[in-house]
Amino acid sequence: MQIRTTVAAPFECACEALVVGGFDRLEDAPYLALLDEKLGGQIAELYRSGEFDGKRNAVRMVDGIGRVAPQRIVLVGLGRKRELSDEALRQAAGTAVRGAGGAGCRAAVSILHLAGGDEDAALRATLEGFRLGSYAFDRYKTDKKKKPSLTEVTALFPDGQQKARRTRAAKETAALCDAVLLTRDLVSEPGNVATPTFLAEAAVRMAAATGIDCRIVEREEMERLAMHGILAVAQGSRQAPKFIVLEYRGAGVDERPVVLVGKGVTFDAGGISLKPGEGMDRMKDDMSGAAAVIGTLQAAATLKLPVNLVGLVPAAENLPDGGAYKPGDIVTTMSGTTVEIVNTDAEGRMLLCDALHYAQRYKPAALIDIATLTGACMVALGSEASGIMGNSARLVRDLLQAGERTGERLWELPVWDGYGDLMKSDVADLKNAGGRWAGAVTAGWFLKQFAGNARWAHLDIAGTAWEEKGRPYTPKGAAGVGVRLLVEYLRGVRPES
Ligand code: BES
Ligand code: MN
Ligand code: ZN
Repeated sequence: MQIRTTVAAPFECACEALVVGGFDRLEDAPYLALLDEKLGGQIAELYRSGEFDGKRNAVRMVDGIGRVAPQRIVLVGLGRKRELSDEALRQAAGTAVRGAGGAGCRAAVSILHLAGGDEDAALRATLEGFRLGSYAFDRYKTDKKKKPSLTEVTALFPDGQQKARRTRAAKETAALCDAVLLTRDLVSEPGNVATPTFLAEAAVRMAAATGIDCRIVEREEMERLAMHGILAVAQGSRQAPKFIVLEYRGAGVDERPVVLVGKGVTFDAGGISLKPGEGMDRMKDDMSGAAAVIGTLQAAATLKLPVNLVGLVPAAENLPDGGAYKPGDIVTTMSGTTVEIVNTDAEGRMLLCDALHYAQRYKPAALIDIATLTGACMVALGSEASGIMGNSARLVRDLLQAGERTGERLWELPVWDGYGDLMKSDVADLKNAGGRWAGAVTAGWFLKQFAGNARWAHLDIAGTAWEEKGRPYTPKGAAGVGVRLLVEYLRGVRPES
């Protein structure tokens, strides 16, 4: 979808559809009373009859009946005016995509961003909602007609002020959305396509297009580096593991980088500790963290964020075969810490621990891993929030705030020392799974052991990476979670902070 801005009078702009926001009281929305007047009281009648109540994400098509230039009005609900937020605008825009698309509109004009709040933020939020809400993964559908038909949205301003700033907001939002959609595309690809090699190629392609550095550490080099955690997970698969290293320089050479680590398990069958068949197909999304890291690096580079940023992606497939790692095996990870495998399905931490250790060479200003790590996190938080754990209150706080601002919400879980008791092994330094209780936390605690002295945070996106039902601007399927969150966090990173 194309998104742009223009200057025009809303009701004199000839277009297929005009998207207008309405609060729970007609008089609260700018332009709505005027529109109602032009349409001879139609809107007031909808409010009176309750056919449109202005509740969040209510949507109603209204015919322009030749009295205004737009053929139709897409009236979309924003809830209570004093509770208006960027998230409400994002969702309303996503809802409008389906409303307009359902009516067969190809291009729409929108004044949703004029509903209230900070102008720049409102513009970004609505354009984001439109673009993300119009996503469909239809690469493997022979009939592509089901796609929402809206392919163009123009945000309209009645005055010509702040032109440069508005154009910039639209361009930056398009770049950010592109990165989210790249992430969604990568996650949506099935396991037979999105192998570790495919992920590596996607990273190389993205790096070439954006002018950042990308290096792939192959199996032989992993062996030299003693990355036995990653190698152990890859043992049961015919797909070669890859360790992807992306480096973006947006700040001075001596500025310490933020290092992102993304779990890249391209399919997780559980290995010898095989998962039940029911729902196993979803485990193609077990590289959502990896995809978010690749997307975030693309966004950072295209937005020219003034930070140094490194992306590390350990990629492998977790399958059972004659060579697969087994329960009872003891693995010496890259850091030298030995781990007794008690469950081969706790594979994510086995690759992440090597990546976190590798990250130490960058002396990170912040080290953030993102992973579909535990079903337990999904049990705890469902799909409303990702879990966050960390060893730095400030880093956790900054990420929590970025989560609130972007609508990619986070909720903190503790990683207290006491949880370590659950991870002690009789025969090795640690075991890789702690049993039934506090599964999200013990996984986080395990990772913490490999973060060294770095300021570290762990994001568990098991519950948020895959959208089951479909939300206003997140259609069913890959959510692309993490990119907007991390970019928002990076926007706030100041040198030497
Ligand atoms: N990839 C899964 C976690 C997961 C489960 C993500 C459901 C999304 C939805 C991970 O590798 C896993 O299998 N974790 C185990 C850990 C356990 C064996 C300690 C889990 O959560 O059951
Ligand atoms: Mn697993
Ligand atoms: Zn997994």
